[in-house]
Amino acid sequence: MSIKATITAISHYVPEDILSNSDLEKLVDTNDEWIKSRTGISERRILKKGATSDLAFPAVQNILKQRNISPLEIDTIIVATVTPDMFFPSTACILQEKIGAKNAFAFDLNAACSGFLYALVVGSQMIESGSQKKVLVVGADKMSSILNYKDRNTCILFGDGAGAVLLEPSEDETFGVLDNRLYSDGSGKDFLYMKGGGSLNPATHETVDQQLHYIFQDGKSVFKVAVIGMADVSAELMTRNNLTSENIDWLVPHQANLRIIDACAERMGIDKSKVMINIERYGNTTAATIPLCLSEWWHARKIIKGQNIILSSFGAGYTWGAVYLRWSLDPPTN
Ligand code: UT7
Repeated sequence: MSIKATITAISHYVPEDILSNSDLEKLVDTNDEWIKSRTGISERRILKKGATSDLAFPAVQNILKQRNISPLEIDTIIVATVTPDMFFPSTACILQEKIGAKNAFAFDLNAACSGFLYALVVGSQMIESGSQKKVLVVGADKMSSILNYKDRNTCILFGDGAGAVLLEPSEDETFGVLDNRLYSDGSGKDFLYMKGGGSLNPATHETVDQQLHYIFQDGKSVFKVAVIGMADVSAELMTRNNLTSENIDWLVPHQANLRIIDACAERMGIDKSKVMINIERYGNTTAATIPLCLSEWWHARKIIKGQNIILSSFGAGYTWGAVYLRWSLDPPTN
């Protein structure tokens, strides 16, 4: 019998402060109607004080409580993020210390908006190898820390948040993380990036003057490849697992733009009632969008044991991919 990894606890955290479209109208030349119709976003959350590990911490604390385990039982912590607290040490190490997971080894993973899926696959394979029993996989980003609130092309899109899952060996190999397909294409570096602060452009007065420490995105170019990438990789996974749009219960797409989500669902032939969407409330939280959706839906008792779920993402790199899950977690008790 082969071991499969399954989600045995799930949680999320978003900060309290809301940045609405009308708040943004006061900062840049934009308007609520444009933002809603072009992106589907109404508001996003902003962490005013603190760092990415402060977003991840409450989510992970909830997971330990939910599963009723000591932090000492955690074997591995993977944090997917593009907004680490600092270059090093890793945010995963900072989180490890905060929660007291003294027996875990911890590392960050950078695959931008596909970070959670990449981390889920890496974590699952650690469980499948038999070497790890409890792996925390976190997607967390404080996007407000790298946004230019004078650039209307980007500042309206992103928000702050975190989502996390605990992976453990599945008791039944027909449940859990059943299949995945991940892709990268480094030519995407020209369309979505943050050039300042790394070894290419170490932080100087000039890099700050040139605003290289902010996100740049050529939205139109990314849009086209995102729709095709997410839809094609999801279709690939459906075909090789003999899944039709009828026997998929949920599609959980990365939340970058409602128009991308709709186009992707349409290309896959999935009815909109089966697509998890919360972009209107949080915007694009990068590595957090997928676990944030899954956690909200599970807490709302909308995900049922045995359901087939496709997670699908596209982001900077380019990175993209899809994961096929069969849900095994009972509904929340309270
Ligand atoms: O998560 C990682 C992956 N990222 C994505 O998947 C994002 C992909 N891209 C997108 O979601 C969209 O391309 C955007 C939402 C970023 C932009 O939407 P768009 O429909 O591609 O708009 P656009 O950039 O082509 O701009 C259309 C017009 C332009 O004006 P002109 O040249 O037609 O006069 C822009 O200057 O809208 C203007 N514009 C705005 N107007 C009001 C751009 N941003 C804004 C704004 N408010 N915030």
